[in-house]
Amino acid sequence: MIYADITGWGKYIPPAVLTNDELTTFMDTSDEWISSRSGIRQRRISHINTAQMATLASKQALARAGLTADDLDLIIVATCCPDTLVPNTASKVQELLGTNQAACFDLSSACTGFLYALQNATAQIRSGMAKKVLVVAAERMSWFVNWSERSSAVLFGDGAGAVIVEASDIECGLLNAKLGCDSKARDILSVSNFGTDMDRYENPPGPLTLDFIGPEIFKRAVRGMGGATETVMSEAKLNVEDIDLLIPHQANVRIIETIAQKLKLKDEQVMVNIQNYGNTSAATVPIAICEALESGRVKPGDNIISAAFGAGLTWGAGFIKWGNRVTPVNDYVQQEQTSEKTALELLATAIKHCTQKPA
Ligand code: ACO
Repeated sequence: MIYADITGWGKYIPPAVLTNDELTTFMDTSDEWISSRSGIRQRRISHINTAQMATLASKQALARAGLTADDLDLIIVATCCPDTLVPNTASKVQELLGTNQAACFDLSSACTGFLYALQNATAQIRSGMAKKVLVVAAERMSWFVNWSERSSAVLFGDGAGAVIVEASDIECGLLNAKLGCDSKARDILSVSNFGTDMDRYENPPGPLTLDFIGPEIFKRAVRGMGGATETVMSEAKLNVEDIDLLIPHQANVRIIETIAQKLKLKDEQVMVNIQNYGNTSAATVPIAICEALESGRVKPGDNIISAAFGAGLTWGAGFIKWGNRVTPVNDYVQQEQTSEKTALELLATAIKHCTQKPA
């Protein structure tokens, strides 16, 4: 039997920090509102594009797996912030990694994108169609944000996370997954004025807007993620005490707490880092996986449950039996990234366009 072991992990966290207090300099909001409603205290604003963030996270994951990009036969980039629609972002990542071999595709399932991509990579490996796959989620959400919409603008951030998945004969990796989509609710979270739906000539689009109905998403997220988690646990015959770590999508700490309470998990069984990065869409789960390993929270053979939801409304959960590797093959030190500009300077033009009143 072939399994799909996760043998490398990496992340890219942009250096420019945007705090809740800095948001109050141009928006009617407060640190108290944002942190009590969402758990977010700060987020990162990227000075580089999606493919570059993905590449930096991928280099770290490759080094930690002891591989080079030439070893890969498939690159999947989970993103809803592609650098270009055509060609795909995955081909750019491959080019930046300095190789020219692997199959490359982008996967668009918003915040659930990493789980969808991991399931896809696992299926390809387990069927024998691929042996070494890079799964990277990278999101430049700050590009979409409408900085005059306080209910959504305060929630998002930029970042990337990557894993390497390799064929193994040890029973580990993603062993069960339940993915789905609540498409009746596809309009409650959308960037509606971008794509062939828009009228390019008669009615050209104004500023992009990430529209959503927060309370409705909240309810459906708990239902979708919670239901998928219960299905995965029951199929894998796992009880609550068997779970070593829950690594959920980081959209709102209250959603995470609701799911943890439903499952009766203790705080130490739940990975939470939303306070530092906000919602980085598909990248939240692989960044959290990476930080769980970096902080020694994952041991060989651990039972990990991951769950996510995103636009579509896509939802899903997966059971990952961690393999033997918790120590990197090569200790990759990411070159210190600096941004010449602060987060507010990086966003200055976008904020001006979004907030200025029509004459
Ligand atoms: N600062 C201050 N006040 C605000 C802000 C803000 N940034 N945003 C909204 N408010 C106000 C509203 O105007 C409203 O005021 P009113 O009562 O006078 O009308 C009040 O706060 C309450 O607004 P609600 O939307 O009811 O607040 P809620 O407690 O539901 O929290 C939130 C909103 C955080 C968006 C929550 O609904 C949520 O997390 N939803 C699900 C997660 C989500 O939507 N994530 C984004 C989707 S991305 C993804 O991961 C797929």
